[in-house]
Amino acid sequence: MTHDHPEATEAENGYDRLSRWYQSLERMLFGSALTRARYQLLDRLPQADRLLVFGDGDGRLTREISRRRPDCSMVSVDLSSEMLRLQRQRLSGGGGHGSIELIHADVRSINLDPKDFDGIVLVFFLDCFRRAELEELLPLWLATVKSGGFVYFVDFIMPEAGWRAVRGRFMLSLMHCFFRWQTGLENRRLVDFTELFKTLRLECMVEHVSSHGLIRSAIYRVS
Ligand SMILES: C[S@@+](CC[C@H](N)C(=O)[O-])C[C@H]1O[C@@H](n2cnc3c(N)ncnc32)[C@H](O)[C@@H]1O
Repeated sequence: MTHDHPEATEAENGYDRLSRWYQSLERMLFGSALTRARYQLLDRLPQADRLLVFGDGDGRLTREISRRRPDCSMVSVDLSSEMLRLQRQRLSGGGGHGSIELIHADVRSINLDPKDFDGIVLVFFLDCFRRAELEELLPLWLATVKSGGFVYFVDFIMPEAGWRAVRGRFMLSLMHCFFRWQTGLENRRLVDFTELFKTLRLECMVEHVSSHGLIRSAIYRVS
């Protein structure tokens, strides 16, 4: 695939390479903590007929959503064709009756209709972008969600103090170094997503913090 953003080729190749090992690497570093955080608030999601999912990677979350919301249709966008191949495989194993469209694209260049979705799913995804990019892109992505719709967000946060903060800094710098090496990730530090969402006037409806303050799962209402 040719890209508008030159660095996307390196990222795509990197995620293609990582796709097969992704789940094992995650288990090695975090055990089942990321899986639990991913699914933590799924049963609290508001009613949705149509969801937009960005960067689900190997398809574990889209499959879980389609199991729990069998009538929900999804559009799932990912930069990596190998990740999408795994998603296709996982989804073919059964799930819901809703349609799932897989789109191979860079979300920075994609054109989607405004107010077409009941919610957008951003799970361990926003950390792929720098804050300046997110300030530009998030409003465009949120514009695809109907008023009164929602954002399902799961990602890392920096624990506030003590040994948890030391552990958090260590884990996050390890991950940033690893992804910089493998995918050319430019981010060197975690964006404060909670603060960024406040500037976008997203209203937090429910949240859950896990893994000793390192991971936050939340549902936000889009006004
Ligand atoms: C860190 S992985 C997270 C995967 C999954 N969401 C999870 O919970 O583990 C990031 C995913 O986003 C995709 N991705 C990264 N940058 C992207 C972009 N600009 N456009 C679309 N997908 C992207 C990668 O291919 C990868 O599948």
